[in-house]
Amino acid sequence: MFSLIAPHGGRFVNRFLEGSDRERVSELIPRLKKVVLKDWEISDLYMIASGGFSPIEGFMCKEDYHSVIDNMRLKDGTVWTIPVTLSVSADEAKKIKDGESVGLFDKGGDALGILEVEEKFSNNREKEASGVYGTQDKCHPGVLRLYEKGDVLLGGRVSVINRPKYDDFKEYRLDPIDTRRLFKEKGWKRIVGFQTRNPIHRAHEYIQKCTLEMADGLLIHPLIGETKKDDIPADIRMECYKTLIENYYPNDRVVLSVFPAAMRYAGPREAVFHALVRKNYGCTHFIVGRDHAGVGNFYGSFDAHYIFDEFNPEEIGITPMFFDYTFFCKQCGCMASYKTCPHDAEDHISLSGTKVREMLRAGKTPPKEFSRPEVANVLIESYKSKS
Ligand code: ADX
Repeated sequence: MFSLIAPHGGRFVNRFLEGSDRERVSELIPRLKKVVLKDWEISDLYMIASGGFSPIEGFMCKEDYHSVIDNMRLKDGTVWTIPVTLSVSADEAKKIKDGESVGLFDKGGDALGILEVEEKFSNNREKEASGVYGTQDKCHPGVLRLYEKGDVLLGGRVSVINRPKYDDFKEYRLDPIDTRRLFKEKGWKRIVGFQTRNPIHRAHEYIQKCTLEMADGLLIHPLIGETKKDDIPADIRMECYKTLIENYYPNDRVVLSVFPAAMRYAGPREAVFHALVRKNYGCTHFIVGRDHAGVGNFYGSFDAHYIFDEFNPEEIGITPMFFDYTFFCKQCGCMASYKTCPHDAEDHISLSGTKVREMLRAGKTPPKEFSRPEVANVLIESYKSKS
């Protein structure tokens, strides 16, 4: 019997309480001070509790926070590239003492769990913006969100009694423990993870299928947590993935499941973070293409490849699979990349996201070399129903 890849940091975290522990905390919560979480903090809470962020057991304390920004590592040296924090206003923070437990609630007033506040410390937005996102420019959606956070960060271990209430994508919500179990049942040893926040196009399909030639299985793992406003909504993207898989993929070699984390748009740092988290879901390989998790012109097209050189492969654990810019080449008559195609750019069919959105809005179908017609139809219909 083979064993699945070890979780990051060697320890699989489960902070969902059950049985008498859950009952005890449920009774305690109404007597605790209340902290209301924003949507992206709720998705982080779920990611921690489900083990997706293993070995992290709670919102970061000061030393981890600064160590992640400065060195891309937790204070114990484990690679980790993105801070995971919970903020409150200075006024709220004044009422909370170090060592005290607080109740965590959603904005509808439902209790989610507790945080054992180990320490309170100041939210260093400028440092985090420059260190993690490489800019303090609020045109960057990740930086903008950072500036919406409160002045004080609360660090400590969390315990969750109720899962966040999500009504959508029910059959596609698999915890890391579920995907791990599924991969084992299927007998997959080499599993490639694919992160995406966009409707699937031919370049995505091409790089996925290149990896599927050597792997046992593929986890298509669209991010459905908070994204910026002009990204295509997750329900429409999911319809695109389903249609594509139905028509063009070998069903028994693909798992489609949603990734509930929020998008940071932190480019290279987020590529490493995405890879480590997919390792926790049981993937052995992870696709990193052009401008992974990038936005605008904030990062170089392949910065998300170069960043992996800063670590030993063993400390990352999951194997990144790097792809150059891919497109359809009219001369080659197939999908290709700068690594495999000798022809000029004028022979290449590739469209920017903005151009595609413009075409869809005008009811025009993008060329079949760019998008499968079935996927284009889903997108056009969604634009029609919106207008
Ligand atoms: S991302 O923000 O989730 O990275 P997107 O959904 O567009 O955005 O990309 C998913 C993955 O496909 C990323 O690894 C990205 O680098 C890769 N990718 C997207 N388009 C291309 C392309 N034309 N060539 C190579 N890789 C690509």
